Amino acid sequence: MIKVTVPATSANMGSGFDSLGLALTMYNTIYIEEYDGIDIASLDGVEIPTDETNMVYSSAKRIYEILNKPFKGLKIRQINNIPMARGLGSSSACLIGGLLGANALLGNPLKRDELINLSAAIEGHPDNTTPAILGGLVTCAIDSGKVYSVSVPVNHHAKFVALIPSETLKTSHARSVLPNTVSRQDAVFNLSRSALMTASLFSGSLENLKVATSDMLHQPFRMGLIKGADTAFRVAYELGAYGVYISGAGSTVMAIIDEKDNAFAKNIELELKKNGIFNWTVVELLADPVGAKVEIVNSTKE
Ligand code: HSE
Repeated sequence: MIKVTVPATSANMGSGFDSLGLALTMYNTIYIEEYDGIDIASLDGVEIPTDETNMVYSSAKRIYEILNKPFKGLKIRQINNIPMARGLGSSSACLIGGLLGANALLGNPLKRDELINLSAAIEGHPDNTTPAILGGLVTCAIDSGKVYSVSVPVNHHAKFVALIPSETLKTSHARSVLPNTVSRQDAVFNLSRSALMTASLFSGSLENLKVATSDMLHQPFRMGLIKGADTAFRVAYELGAYGVYISGAGSTVMAIIDEKDNAFAKNIELELKKNGIFNWTVVELLADPVGAKVEIVNSTKE
């Protein structure tokens, strides 16, 4: 049986719309083996599709089809720690779990770069999928269907606090509110800040992050879709966050804070409540430096 562990991702990071992403220390785990038919179950009570619409199943099957291998079915067990439709890469994690799992079942015929290209082609957003495979802070671009990317470590002085609303937000909806054209001024605003973002988070120049996370391409249009987001941004900055941004397409708001700050998570939970924002989950995370892991195991206990 193959076990695949896939990290959550936080795409865009404010200014890097569709081009920057980060892997985080929150994981989905997928156990997968060949089986005569479909046997899919959740190991943690999270509701998942148990038919061929299951994303782990469909992406794994895709690998068999691409490689022209006989396919009878799969047995899949899932632990879904990454909350769904919150801008933390839960669908990327399922997709990549299926692709990497099936590739391992077939003896790893596809190399990592091929899996990066394939996952971006299926999911549509390399800033979500590439960090889940590579780990770290990833800058990426697609050219003629190929993903060009670099993963660098996040400076150890930074940690991340995910403010996760109970309300979900579909990426398709969050993209539908974006304008089709932008001014040169706004393009330059984002270009300069996204370059600043990678360099600052890598080098530890965290005082740049308030400027580096600011953006004109998507956040101004998405803020209104997330009830309480404006308050979360304000309160996070008041409590000393270096930078705050909408994670992926939302609904999560991500704060970047100092690794020595052990009070922030507790304090923001209280402040959100004081401001009438209830049912948000606050999770402190680090950058995951390694990305998805594939192992051979004997049972789902390992
Ligand atoms: N870059 C994408 C977006 C990430 O913001 O729409 C969501 O998958």
